[in-house]
Amino acid sequence: MTQQAYMRVENIVKQFGPFMALNGVNLDVYPGEVHALLGDNGAGKSTLIKILSGVHQPTSGTIYIDGKARTFRNPRDAASAGVGTVYQDLAINQLMSVTRNFFMGRELKSKFGILRMDEMNQIAHDEMLKIGIDFSDPTQAVGTMSGGQRQTLAIARAIYFGAKVLILDEPTSALGQKQQMEVLKTIKRVRARGDIAIIFITHNEIHSKLVADRYTFLALGQVIGSGPKAEIESQDIRRLMAGGAEMKDLEQELAHI
Ligand SMILES: Nc1ncnc2c1ncn2[C@@H]1O[C@H](COP(=O)(O)OP(=O)(O)OP(=O)(O)O)[C@@H](O)[C@H]1O
Ligand SMILES: [Mg+2]
Repeated sequence: MTQQAYMRVENIVKQFGPFMALNGVNLDVYPGEVHALLGDNGAGKSTLIKILSGVHQPTSGTIYIDGKARTFRNPRDAASAGVGTVYQDLAINQLMSVTRNFFMGRELKSKFGILRMDEMNQIAHDEMLKIGIDFSDPTQAVGTMSGGQRQTLAIARAIYFGAKVLILDEPTSALGQKQQMEVLKTIKRVRARGDIAIIFITHNEIHSKLVADRYTFLALGQVIGSGPKAEIESQDIRRLMAGGAEMKDLEQELAHI
C-alpha cells in the first residue's frame, strides 16, 4: 500500500499585489521522509513555508492535513494542525537558559504558578538527547551552545510541542562544516522516528543529497522539478538548482565580457 501524504499542498497561488510569488505549487510530504525544497533566491521557498505555517494566507489553493482541507488563519492554527517551523533566526534568547528557551511561553507550572524547573530541565535534556545532543546542563545560557546545537534545540522543541510536519528553513546555511554535519545528523534522527515529515529548505545541493528522500525545485514561483530521490538524482540537479538554466545558457551570458 502506498503511504498517504501527511500534508498535501495543491495548486497554491500567492500574489503580492500584481506580483505572482507562487503560481500553482503542489507538494506532498510523507511521514518518515525528508522532502528537500530547493530553488534560487526569490524562487518562492520562504513564501511557500509562510503559507504552510499560517503566516501568509494563499490567494488560492488548498492545504490538506491527513486528507482534510485546512485553512490556517494564523501561525497558531498551523501549529495546532501539527506544523512546526524552525526559522533561520530561530527565535532564541541568547541570555536565557536552554530550558527556558525550550519552554518559552509554554512553561510547566505548579498550581500555585511556580515554575517546575527540575522537571523542565529533565525534559529539555532528554528531548535533545533523543535527536543527538547530550547537553548535560540545560540551566546554562543558550549563548554557550554551538550554532548546530541551537538548531537541535529548536527542532527538539518543535517536536516536543507536537510538530508532525517539521519545516526547517535553511538550517545549515549559517554554520561551519562540522556543525552542518551535526544538523544533518539531527535531521536523520528525526526522520528515523518515522512519524514526522520534514521539509528541508536549502541552497546546498550536497546537503540535500545527503538526507533527502524526495525533492521539489522551485523557480520564479513554479515547480520546475519534483520527485523521489532516485528519479531526481538521475537528472541534472545543477540545472534545476539554477532555475532550469543550462550550462551553455550561463556560458553564453558571460561570453561577451
Ligand atoms: N511580502 C512581500 N511583498 C511583496 N513581495 C514579496 C513579499 N514576500 C516575498 N516577495 C517576493 O516574492 C518572491 C519570492 O520570495 P521568497 O522570499 O519566497 O523567495 P525565497 O525562495 O525564499 O528566496 P531566498 O532563497 O532568497 O530566501 C521574491 O521576488 C520576493 O521579492
Ligand atoms: Mg527564503
